[in-house]
Amino acid sequence: MTSDRYVFPHRHLLGIEPLSQQDITMLLDQARAFEEVCERPEIKIVPALRKRLIVNLFFENSTRTRNSFEIAEKRLSAEIINFDADTSSLSKGETLVDTAMNLEAMHPDLIVMRHSAPGAHALLSRHMKASIVNAGDGAHEHPTQALLDAYTLRKRFGKLDGIKIAIVGDIRHSRVVRSNLWLLTKMGAKVTLVGPPTLLPLEMKATWPMVDFSYTLDDVLPEQDAIMMLRAQFERGTGAFIPGQGEYIKHYQLNAARMKRARKDVAVMHPGPMNRGFEITSEVADGPNNVILDQVTNGVPVRMSVLYLLCNPHGEQVP
Ligand code: NCD
Repeated sequence: MTSDRYVFPHRHLLGIEPLSQQDITMLLDQARAFEEVCERPEIKIVPALRKRLIVNLFFENSTRTRNSFEIAEKRLSAEIINFDADTSSLSKGETLVDTAMNLEAMHPDLIVMRHSAPGAHALLSRHMKASIVNAGDGAHEHPTQALLDAYTLRKRFGKLDGIKIAIVGDIRHSRVVRSNLWLLTKMGAKVTLVGPPTLLPLEMKATWPMVDFSYTLDDVLPEQDAIMMLRAQFERGTGAFIPGQGEYIKHYQLNAARMKRARKDVAVMHPGPMNRGFEITSEVADGPNNVILDQVTNGVPVRMSVLYLLCNPHGEQVP
């Protein structure tokens, strides 16, 4: 548990890598307090970030993450600007740093950004007074996704330490998996990465030596408490890494037949958007084991917690 004197020590959320076990616990505990706000029957809004200005800067497509941040910001009573990358001066050739410096001149408190370049957030954080929140940078990190996944797992199993989780599919292109690897290994979960050899870069062993790697989902399934299916990222060229869709489906699709090998109470996760009928069938995605929409629901209090702690590092409970 977090101590009363603990102060959240980060000014930005650039990734999970720089966070300690205590930071992660603090973020998840604070999210628990905000979940209660989100569950209130009528007033789901607190004045915690009143008069704070948040800029949402999305240079890549997003449905869940962008809406979830915006709802979280509204529930905290923040002022919001949604910056549209298509109609901005970036399309006239302005650099990212120039765009950001111009935004900075308007004194926002927080900038939530999604960008295709790994490290774009770290670059901006060196130029900005505002706190930067990473909502996804290329195939590097997606820290709020890992936090909401951890929140969902902790809610289901009461802990993260010792739980067994397989992360399956397009490991190569996934920022979700990288943030989850940092988080789950720091918190003591036992992680197995599963995928075809071409999508499972073994050089990741150098960074996460405690993680298991497997090419055979059927072997790994029976012992897992949770299975996190990843989207095959066809827009990032995944098609070129697999011999054919039929072959992939045969070995790696999570379907009803394969679910018979899993524990009855296994939690089925997916960050979305799903390729229904490819990495997961609708029967499983909508079946009794899925916690996929719980992940989406939990994204709001988790993002409230991130935004709140960056502005209020002492993390008093809900004001
Ligand atoms: C993920 C993303 O964009 O990184 N989705 C999400 O944020 N919920 C995963 C994906 O696109 O496959």
